[in-house]
Amino acid sequence: MLNLLKTSRVSKSESLIVFADKNADLTVYCSSGPEKSFIKDCIRKKQSQIVINQYNRWIVFVIAEDEKTLFRAKEKTRKQAVKVTAFLNEKKVKKVYLDDIQKNPAKSDAFVEGICLANYQFLKYFGKKKEKENSLISLSIKTKHLNQNEISRITAVCEGVYHARNLVNEPLSFLSAEQLALEVKKMGEEAGYATEIFRKKKIEALKMGGLLAVNRGSIDPPTFSILEYKPENPRNKKPVILVGKGLVFDTGGLSLKPTSGSMDAMKSDMSGGAAVAGAIYALSKAKVPVHVVGLIPATDNRPGENAYAPQDVITMHDGTTVEVLNTDAEGRMILADALSYAKKYKPELVIDLATLTGAAVVAVGRNATVAISNAGKKTVDKIKKSGDNVYERIVEFPAWDEYAEQLVSGVADLKNVGNREAGAITAGKFLQHFTDYPWIHLDIAGPAYLDSSDSYRPKGGTGMGVRLLFDFLSGWKK
Ligand code: BES
Ligand code: ZN
Ligand code: ZN
Repeated sequence: MLNLLKTSRVSKSESLIVFADKNADLTVYCSSGPEKSFIKDCIRKKQSQIVINQYNRWIVFVIAEDEKTLFRAKEKTRKQAVKVTAFLNEKKVKKVYLDDIQKNPAKSDAFVEGICLANYQFLKYFGKKKEKENSLISLSIKTKHLNQNEISRITAVCEGVYHARNLVNEPLSFLSAEQLALEVKKMGEEAGYATEIFRKKKIEALKMGGLLAVNRGSIDPPTFSILEYKPENPRNKKPVILVGKGLVFDTGGLSLKPTSGSMDAMKSDMSGGAAVAGAIYALSKAKVPVHVVGLIPATDNRPGENAYAPQDVITMHDGTTVEVLNTDAEGRMILADALSYAKKYKPELVIDLATLTGAAVVAVGRNATVAISNAGKKTVDKIKKSGDNVYERIVEFPAWDEYAEQLVSGVADLKNVGNREAGAITAGKFLQHFTDYPWIHLDIAGPAYLDSSDSYRPKGGTGMGVRLLFDFLSGWKK
């Protein structure tokens, strides 16, 4: 991560970003008459990014833009920051100062965040890493809008996003279920949360039939990680629980995915788990006073010799029997066990995040998450508001009981798939069966992983969910 520092004065020799309102006098930064008239000219032409080359350094002026709503203005600001970051890396600038003279504190926050999010790279597997590495390593910020605490919070959140992106970008050849658990534990040691890892024997003893069934075709054992961040004086009496799908690779199992590309992004099927770990990492680093527990059931889904088969009947952790009609609907099998395990905490709220259905991608694409909830309007409105705030936007789908009719089985309590209609909703209804507490399900199959970069969202793992959960939980019971 970029090193963020607060400074009381900007350098006269290092490169500089000036973030200013459109009526600001920028000529004070100029060292010559031609520079002054050049800047005035650019402003007249309404340019929002102006660069001057002072030979020993660059000065990039970014003119803050207005928008009808604050959340859109923040997003525009992040995008402006992405452009500056790309420019500075192209010019091989290592250290840059920021003079934040515009007047909106929310924009200061978004601007710094945008630079950090845009500077991410996943280079682990390249031989010539150094050649590809971004030059930018440090940002010294002069601003009246952000104190040291707020700057540390931005660092914590962006580090959480980086960790989540790294986990998603790691292929199965490194990131087995066991390795995912170890990585999450390592993150906890760094950030200050506790991790307990259940391995196969314990998972068997707990009778987590869904997780064990999905794991049967694999040569690697499953894991079930419990992350607990409990600050000294939390605002909540009972924990908020975050459940994340930890499918380290999804082949579909015996209901094998068609090979025509549909498997190519399936290392990302643990993005929900990555978001949970990244969010708890950030909350813990930023010392947010909320008690949070994370549950990450993990395995790969493969058509191995002993793989679970269509028409199998599986007894789940809570005793529910499930008729499996498609082994590719495995996410709900492992999440169901985690959701019923969550009951023992008597949680105030449970949020699950999962790359659960292709139907969610078809319905809302890469720019939104599908939510299904029983938690009531107030809670759903709050998470939607956080979604707007961090621009990880949420669309609520109905949780009407009629949709559960698709899950009635002739041989067991439930079947694991419905018909072709409303696939994202029936998946949610399946999960809801295993809850007895206020619950929000987030199907992040669209935004979790991108085929090509989109502004500060890189190609590959986006770390989607970390900023959303952080924003939502730092406002919990406030
Ligand atoms: N991991 C997939 C869902 C997915 C698809 C995520 C595309 C990201 C991009 C999930 O396990 C799955 O295969 N779901 C099936 C469910 C179906 C069999 C009811 C699907 O969506 O096709
Ligand atoms: Zn699947
Ligand atoms: Zn899956």
